[in-house]
Amino acid sequence: MNNKSIGILGGGQLGRMLVKAASDFGLSICAMDSDGDAPVKDFIRDFKQGDIRDYEQVMAFGKSCDLLTIEIENVNTEALRDLEAGGLEVFPQPHIIELIKDKSKQKQFYRDKGIASPAFEVVNSKEEVKALAHKLPFVNKLAVEGYDGRGVQVMRVLEDLEKGFDAVGIVEDFVPFEKELSVMVARNQQGEVAVYPAVEMVAHAEHNLVEHLFSPAEVSAEVEAKAEAIAVEVIEKLGMVGLLAVELFVTKAGEVMVNEVAPRPHNSGHQTIEANITSQYEQHLRAILGLPLGATEVLIPSVMVNLLGEEGYVGSTKYVGLEEVLREAGVHVHLYGKKQTRPYRKMGHVTIVDQEAQELKRKADFVKKTLKVIA
Ligand SMILES: Nc1ncnc2c1ncn2[C@@H]1O[C@H](COP(=O)(O)OP(=O)(O)OP(=O)(O)O)[C@@H](O)[C@H]1O
Ligand SMILES: [Mg+2]
Repeated sequence: MNNKSIGILGGGQLGRMLVKAASDFGLSICAMDSDGDAPVKDFIRDFKQGDIRDYEQVMAFGKSCDLLTIEIENVNTEALRDLEAGGLEVFPQPHIIELIKDKSKQKQFYRDKGIASPAFEVVNSKEEVKALAHKLPFVNKLAVEGYDGRGVQVMRVLEDLEKGFDAVGIVEDFVPFEKELSVMVARNQQGEVAVYPAVEMVAHAEHNLVEHLFSPAEVSAEVEAKAEAIAVEVIEKLGMVGLLAVELFVTKAGEVMVNEVAPRPHNSGHQTIEANITSQYEQHLRAILGLPLGATEVLIPSVMVNLLGEEGYVGSTKYVGLEEVLREAGVHVHLYGKKQTRPYRKMGHVTIVDQEAQELKRKADFVKKTLKVIA
């Protein structure tokens, strides 16, 4: 495997952490991103500035690698299909990226395969969203290019309908969930599957994006088993090679259903670097290289806090409170090296580990109020 050159489409923080894991395997990595200051750039020699959504540029980049993977779904899958047809190894497989990156196709897949997921219908315009007023409350989502909650509108009352997207999307039943879980699962080229214990995601009150998460999730053994079984079912029915993050809703009645999946390392798996036997990044590499998958067990309870750009600050990045948080035992700071901050931009994350629940919570609260990214 060591002489294989691996290409990554996308050079954000996920790519950056993937490259760090790859260096432990002595692999040579190249990456392409349109941002000349992409977070991955600090770690690799072969960085190519280019548009991952452009057919010609993806073709040219792919031809310079032995194996191609992604750290974001918004890539030119037509080029990936052609590269695959030409004999290049591309994992996850292009047709699966294509299915997942369009929420309407992804949801149709769950329907066709009998995988539990909220009921939905496809809409093509704001008018069509408004025509579904009798279905309120519901959630309107863009079919493509939504991320970090930016393509999601929860609609509760008639006035909310004005916020509907005037674009192709879905309208999905609102689920009054009790908890949101995420389960990482990996499948290698030989079909071996390894699933991680579920983690619990807590979203930001207004911004629909993960603010922090706990690992392992506090759920009954029954819910845990259901969540892991669904994750395995999804990756097996997809026949995907690589790492898959499965976001799930759990209702008060203990029902578990799929919200959405991401075919790559994920924000909800960062804590695996310090808190599980095998990190999600190493696991993704093992899967796409056809290596045996690593053990997934939790080593120590953890909280992962996303470090978002502070509201009211745009410009050159400055960190406040770094020394204070580093004085606490078990606080692992990951800064992504982004030179420019803006409100709610993902600038880093902190994983806090502790055997003791009360201490873990105290430290997480301390980190949240102390460590800030400003300009
Ligand atoms: N059907 C639903 N019922 C209730 N809440 C929902 C529903 N769908 C989404 N949400 C809420 O909105 C959040 C974002 O939705 P979703 O995960 O589909 O979008 P996303 O933009 O792809 O998010 P991200 O990139 O942050 O994972 C969910 O984590 C959940 O809190
Ligand atoms: Mg999501």
